[in-house]
Amino acid sequence: MSAAPLRVALLGAGTVGRAVARALLERPAELAPTDGSSLELAGIAVRDVERARAAGLPAGLVTDAPAHLVAAADTDIVVELIGGDEPARTLIAAALQAGKPVVTANKHVLAHHGAELEAIARRTATPLRFEASVGGGIPVLGPLATELAGNRISAVRGIVNGTTNYILSAMTDDGSDYGTVVTAAQAAGYAEADPAGDVEGQDAVNKLVVLARLAFGCWLAPGAVATIAADGPGAGRPGITGVTSADIDAARSAGGVVKLIARARRAGDAGSGPIVADVLPTVVPASSELGRTGGVLNRIEVEAVPVGTVAFSGPGAGGDATSSAVLGDLIAIARGLGSTWAGLPPATAAR
Ligand SMILES: NC(=O)c1ccc[n+]([C@@H]2O[C@H](COP(=O)([O-])OP(=O)(O)OC[C@H]3O[C@@H](n4cnc5c(N)ncnc54)[C@H](OP(=O)(O)O)[C@@H]3O)[C@@H](O)[C@H]2O)c1
Repeated sequence: MSAAPLRVALLGAGTVGRAVARALLERPAELAPTDGSSLELAGIAVRDVERARAAGLPAGLVTDAPAHLVAAADTDIVVELIGGDEPARTLIAAALQAGKPVVTANKHVLAHHGAELEAIARRTATPLRFEASVGGGIPVLGPLATELAGNRISAVRGIVNGTTNYILSAMTDDGSDYGTVVTAAQAAGYAEADPAGDVEGQDAVNKLVVLARLAFGCWLAPGAVATIAADGPGAGRPGITGVTSADIDAARSAGGVVKLIARARRAGDAGSGPIVADVLPTVVPASSELGRTGGVLNRIEVEAVPVGTVAFSGPGAGGDATSSAVLGDLIAIARGLGSTWAGLPPATAAR
């Protein structure tokens, strides 16, 4: 292990950020790789400094000036856990421009600005790692870029949004209608006060764009991913917002369950055409692995040659589970590894 620890600037101390901060503060020795540098928390940027201090974060580390923390001479690595578009995009770009490796869980910023951020990371030869942005604690992006790198991937599909899976599972199990279940999910903390990003499918679209980057080597435009089905359950409305109790009953009579399935595949007979991607309520056999993936769990299946079909499942959200992926990326950087896309070629434009 080299003598000087790498100093980590943590941007955001919410659900995920607090779990990451706790790990860095409480068990730094466990996180130090034997073939790399140790990690040290250098600062924590939030909006409300007093609330963060009251929540037990070390007063001396907390700041409301994330740009200063990124630019500080003794910040070596930036972990972006603010979420959303700005200021996350600008902060990530600034860190990469300055040659400071970035770890992020932000699927929105990657889906909407991934090409730009990848270009900066490649130009400055600075790692950008984002395992936590898809599937929370489930390792799936790393395996796509590394252990599965010898394959030609033909399709990825799965359940990548826990909120909608919880709502559809509750509609199936309790027979309740969509509106009742959404209200109950909000009360239980499984759906946000404004659930649109989840129930209309955009969160799953963002994750599918990130998956497709690793699987197919291109950044899809989020707007090119269909979220409104022409027929079948929930037809005519985005995501799961049009799914009715009648849709659930019809699926059940056919031995199926309704799931919000995100999928991307190569079109054309030889699989050489453009990438076709959608996020649609879909009837899957109740006895299948996807059918049995209930509640807030996620499952991602990858079809590839020569391996066949492989699947990744587990906790797709939650602070502790998601911190697992963030910490794994931090340790990878401490070991001197590169970006999540590892040795894959630069992304092309979508085709
Ligand atoms: N929650 C999950 O289960 C989960 C799972 C996978 C991926 N993710 C991703 O992880 C990221 C973080 O999610 P989260 O659930 O932890 O979010 P969160 O609970 O809403 O926390 C966001 C944090 O960012 C801080 N923040 C917001 N705007 C800021 C600004 N302008 N300057 C400085 N700090 C700012 C907030 O500060 P204040 O506390 O002062 O408001 C808060 O500490 C997101 O990209 C999300 O998509 C989350």
